[in-house]
Amino acid sequence: MLRRFSVSLEEELLEQFDAYIRERGYVNRSEAMRDLIRKEFISEQWEQDGEVAGVVTLVYDHHQAQLQEKITEIQHEYYTLITSTTHVHMDHDNCLEVIIVKGKASRIKELAERIIAMRGVKNGKLTMTSTGHHLR
Ligand code: NI
Repeated sequence: MLRRFSVSLEEELLEQFDAYIRERGYVNRSEAMRDLIRKEFISEQWEQDGEVAGVVTLVYDHHQAQLQEKITEIQHEYYTLITSTTHVHMDHDNCLEVIIVKGKASRIKELAERIIAMRGVKNGKLTMTSTGHHLR
């Protein structure tokens, strides 16, 4: 159920907010406010080492010696966190791998950092997300 509340803002801040939501294509202020509040809760969950979800995206050189094996080995070390992995052969030399993870924030960061730092990983990124609800 949606509940209403009113917010008072300085005129300048409101103008900035309206410009922000216009640029992002929001149809109204309420939807933009809801997303901003959730974003804050999600980042709090990550900071407080809560139960969260994330996506690790990797682009790596397929010819780098043993890299594929090492990436798989690390994933086995953290197998309880990994929901699924998708591998795409991008071109002759490069692979794209997407690893969907769920679990304790600090363990997810550790997994992501270890893989991203490997020699031959050209681009690595951890996207942090969650439901925004506190699961603790
Ligand atoms: Ni490949």
